[in-house]
Amino acid sequence: MSWWLSGVVGATRRKRGDTNPSLKYKGFALIVGVTGIVGNSLAEILPLHDTPGGPWKVYGVARRPRPPWNADYPMEYIQCDIRDEEQTLTQLSNLQDLTHVFYVTWANCSNEQHNCEINGQMFKNVLNAVIPNCPNLQHICLQTGRNHYIGPFDDWGTLNGVQDAPFCEDLPRIENPNFYYTLEDILFKEVTKKEGLTWSVHRPGVIFGFSPCSMMNIVGSLCVYAAICRHEGEPLRFPGTRQAWESYHSASDADLIAEHHIWAAVDEYAKNEVFNISNGDVFKWKHFWKVLAEQFGVENGGLQEEGERRSLSDMMKDKGAVWDAIVTEKELLPTKLEEVGGWWFVDVVLGNEGMLDLMNKSKEHGFLGFRNSKSSFVSWIDKIKCSKIVPI
Ligand SMILES: NC(=O)c1ccc[n+]([C@@H]2O[C@H](COP(=O)([O-])OP(=O)(O)OC[C@H]3O[C@@H](n4cnc5c(N)ncnc54)[C@H](OP(=O)(O)O)[C@@H]3O)[C@@H](O)[C@H]2O)c1
Repeated sequence: MSWWLSGVVGATRRKRGDTNPSLKYKGFALIVGVTGIVGNSLAEILPLHDTPGGPWKVYGVARRPRPPWNADYPMEYIQCDIRDEEQTLTQLSNLQDLTHVFYVTWANCSNEQHNCEINGQMFKNVLNAVIPNCPNLQHICLQTGRNHYIGPFDDWGTLNGVQDAPFCEDLPRIENPNFYYTLEDILFKEVTKKEGLTWSVHRPGVIFGFSPCSMMNIVGSLCVYAAICRHEGEPLRFPGTRQAWESYHSASDADLIAEHHIWAAVDEYAKNEVFNISNGDVFKWKHFWKVLAEQFGVENGGLQEEGERRSLSDMMKDKGAVWDAIVTEKELLPTKLEEVGGWWFVDVVLGNEGMLDLMNKSKEHGFLGFRNSKSSFVSWIDKIKCSKIVPI
C-alpha cells in the first residue's frame, strides 16, 4: 500500500469539512473517547475523503454533551458512560454495522489496582456490547502508552531504569500492576470470540494535541499556565527539574497517533501487533520553553534553582478566579481552571528525565509517518488559541 504519508501535513491542521457525503461507506468506526486528545483527531481525520479504508461512517462515544469545538465533524455522537454495563449494552449493541473500534479512553483512579479493575470493566463493557452484535466487525485498535515500560505514574521514580530506554515493543512486562496489561489481556482474550477479528495496540508517549476534555493534555495545560503568567505580568518559570529541562524527550502528535490507528485498522501488515507511536525526533524542554514564552509574549523565566522549585499544582492552586477573569475579559469559551489545567500531569512529565522509545517496528511494518515536534507543538498552541480556549 502506498501509505498516506502525512508527516508534511503536521505543521498545518487539516481543513474541516473536506468530505464527500455522496460516497457509500466502506468502514464503520466507533471511537470510544471521541472528545479526548486522540479521539478528537480521529473524529476529524476519519471522515475525510482520502482517509484509507473510507469513506467512513463515524460513531463517537463520551459521557458529556457534545462540545462546540467537536460539533462540526460528520459523526453520530453517543452520550454513554461505559463504566455502566447496562447503559453500554443498550447504547452500543445496536450499532450493528460497525467494522472497527478505536478505543482511546481511560479512567484515572486512586491507585493502580483500582485502575486495573475500573479500566478493565469499561473495556469489557464495550467489547461485550459490540463483539457479539456486530457481524462485520473486523478490527479493534487499543491505545495504551509508554507507561507500559516504566510502570504507572505512582511508580515513576521507583521504577525508572527497570527497563532500559529506548523502549522497544518486545520488552518483557514489569511485575507491578499496570492497567495497560489488564487491557491487553482482555483484548487478546475477547478477540478470539469472533473468527477473523484482528487487533492492534498503540503505545504513545506524552501526547501533543487538542482537547479541553482530556485528563492529560500537556500543551493545553502549558498554554493556560502561560496565559495566567502573562495576565499577572509574571515570567514563565519552568516548574520542573534540571533533569527534565536538559534531557532528551520525545512526544506523540495526536493526529499522527490517529493516522497510526487508521493504518493498523486497514493494513494487512499491521494486524495483531503492538506498536510504539512517537514523532520520530527528540527535543529538550529548555528549547521548547523559549518557544512557549514567545507564543504568549511572556518573559522566559527559565529553570528555577532546586530550592526555588514549586510544582505547578502548588502554583496554580489559587488561580481559579484569575482564570475566570481571563475567560470573561478575553471572551473565551467558558471553562473552569480544573478542566483545562492538568497540573499533576505536567508536574510528572516536567519532573522526570525524558524516556525515549523506538519507531523501528512501525517503520518495518510500513508506517513511515512522522512529525516535527516543534511544528507540532506550535500548531497545537495555534489550534488551542483559535478555538478560544486560551487568549491569542
Ligand atoms: N494524554 C496523553 O498524553 C497520553 C500519553 C500516553 C498514553 N496515553 C493513554 O492513552 C489512552 C487514552 O487516553 P487519552 O489521553 O487519549 O484520553 P483523554 O484525552 O483523557 O480522553 C478521554 C475520553 O474518554 C471519554 N470518557 C472518559 N470516561 C468515559 C466513560 N466512563 N464513558 C465514556 N466516555 C468516557 C472522555 O469524555 P467524557 O469525560 O465526556 O466522558 C474523553 O472523550 C489512555 O490509556 C492513556 O493512559 C495518554
